[in-house]
Amino acid sequence: AIIPQTLFTGRQVVSLPECASTNSEAQALIHRNRATDGCVVITDKQTAGRGQRGNRWEAAPGENLTMSVVWRPTFLPAPDQFQLSQAVALAVHDWATTLLGPDPALRVKWPNDIFFGNRKLGGILIENTLSGTMIQHSVVGIGMNINQREFQVPTATSLAALTGRAYDLPILASRLLEHLERRYLQLRAGGLGVLRQNYRQVLYRYREPHLYEVDNHQVTGEIVDVDEAGRLALSISGQLRHFDLKEIKYII
Ligand code: BTN
Repeated sequence: AIIPQTLFTGRQVVSLPECASTNSEAQALIHRNRATDGCVVITDKQTAGRGQRGNRWEAAPGENLTMSVVWRPTFLPAPDQFQLSQAVALAVHDWATTLLGPDPALRVKWPNDIFFGNRKLGGILIENTLSGTMIQHSVVGIGMNINQREFQVPTATSLAALTGRAYDLPILASRLLEHLERRYLQLRAGGLGVLRQNYRQVLYRYREPHLYEVDNHQVTGEIVDVDEAGRLALSISGQLRHFDLKEIKYII
């Protein structure tokens, strides 16, 4: 069972053997006024999992963490949405660190993928609903590869693939919810400075020159910052340029 030691995150858990997408299930709970602050939807099998950039999210049934948390960050103005994304990515990174030990290979790839070396351990998809200029609900979808050992793409990995161990999913979910609440409360308490600093410390390819694809061209750039709006700031041939998610691709 999922029994996190938290104040509100994961105190209500909707556990489904199968669903299209836990993010969509969470949205449906919100529409029916059934979503409490911190409620969680978790499933063994997603048939239409969604990722960033309109991608699909595929994961072997029963072997991975597939869940969504609903929060009501009514303190957060819509233009500051990236702060939540940062807090969530750090929470997942904190949690992964407790499982893998501190390792510089464990990184957050902007905006909020979790990477080990050049392989993806998991991803995050946050969907916000607004009320005027403020955020009313956030659906924080998290997909983490845990016990899966074979992947359709060579750029994926899992905890089990990295350590050779098998993991208990409800226990991992409980611990993850604790880390999520901790970073969420840090954000709510105004800890933005620490969050920004911690985010930079774990950012994949921070201040390392690498190849990126911009306007269908390959360029060498160096990540120097992620700005308040969550845009990636790259130094390219000595020039500072800012990019949205759709405007840049990493070349791995
Ligand atoms: C990405 O890497 O592009 C984000 C992947 C997010 C996947 C999770 S799995 C649980 C939740 N439900 C979804 O449909 N997507 C997120």
